[in-house]
Amino acid sequence: MEKLRASFAGGTFVKFTLSRPRERKAELRNVYARFVDLKAGRAVSLTLRYATKDVTRNVTPAETPAQVGSLLSDVFEEANLFTTTGDFRLKADAKGEGTMKASRPTFSAVLPTAHDRPKERALANAPFLTKLGVTSADGVARPGMADKLRQVERFVEILGHLTESSPFAAAESVRVCDMGAGKGYLTFAAHEYFRRRGKAEVIGVEQREDLVGKTNAIARELECEGLRFDRGTIADFPLPAAPDVLIALHACDTATDDALAAGVRAGAKLIVVAPCCHKEVRSQMRAPEVLAAILRHGILAERQAEVLTDGLRALVLEAWGYEAKVFEFVSNEHTGKNLMIAATKRGDEDMAGLERARTVMREFGIERFRLLDELCTV
Ligand SMILES: C[S@@+](CC[C@H](N)C(=O)[O-])C[C@H]1O[C@@H](n2cnc3c(N)ncnc32)[C@H](O)[C@@H]1O
Repeated sequence: MEKLRASFAGGTFVKFTLSRPRERKAELRNVYARFVDLKAGRAVSLTLRYATKDVTRNVTPAETPAQVGSLLSDVFEEANLFTTTGDFRLKADAKGEGTMKASRPTFSAVLPTAHDRPKERALANAPFLTKLGVTSADGVARPGMADKLRQVERFVEILGHLTESSPFAAAESVRVCDMGAGKGYLTFAAHEYFRRRGKAEVIGVEQREDLVGKTNAIARELECEGLRFDRGTIADFPLPAAPDVLIALHACDTATDDALAAGVRAGAKLIVVAPCCHKEVRSQMRAPEVLAAILRHGILAERQAEVLTDGLRALVLEAWGYEAKVFEFVSNEHTGKNLMIAATKRGDEDMAGLERARTVMREFGIERFRLLDELCTV
């Protein structure tokens, strides 16, 4: 409390968190505090994060130590204070005795205090990020996980924009399937995002049993209502009819096409994929005469094959009545696999669009294209 008061008085306060509830099943999961400037003057904004909702309470700086003190003694085992001169971590044991550790400051400047900050992090302090080892209990990225955190946050930001202009923008309950869920970063993120908007029914499909076991255990522990992981393969998983969102990020090679085909067949309203490696087109591609001198360079042929693969995917989706967008979703410095295809169902099939895809295939000597083969065999 002394350190907290001193940081208020000295203008060095950055933020404060309370975490690790003593009761494993506690409704209140953590508390996040920062300064906020209101008409009435400077206040401390306490965000109380419950399992199913966030509650914000603004208190005066003078009231804060008492409020925080009672939360700390009644509910939480850990407190983290960040100031521009040092970080302080307090850990209390079951008997109520505590140890405090000081360390070098994580932050060199205080946070903006405007009431309506331009960008509130959609996943700030979400408990799953800690459980999956992305952040520590105070919401800061663990060593080596900053890129993953940025990727997950960016994914949710994009999901938000796509949802706003989707056919289910006003729906209270949203059904999502994440194909090739892996460790579940994006599955949990999608669940958290839609849960905060209303109700979410999310299934993560993953072929590895060990991962399915781990992610289901975490979902149970965090009481993520409406979230489950199923063992299965993308091509064979029985999707529910017309899911709102189908996701497949970094599923290998043609698994992306299997996911796209499954989404189109099921009538998914929004499909979001980030392709991984591309092999199918590269092995068939023959350079058209006009490009032969350029594509003799292996790296350029490689990139051309990627462009063709993703371009053809977008054309095929358009032929099946989707509006397709292809864009970079995180900058190149964070991951090489940063291309995203987002397709929103807008209308009926347009088989003229299919001809555009076939023309490109002919030009490059491509005879088989998994997504097209899958959809045309229906
Ligand atoms: C690179 S990881 C990506 C995980 C997650 N989508 C993400 O972006 O964080 C790919 C995951 O997809 C799974 N996977 C690949 N092909 C699959 C298939 N055909 N069916 C089910 N899961 C698959 C792998 O086991 C792996 O866990």
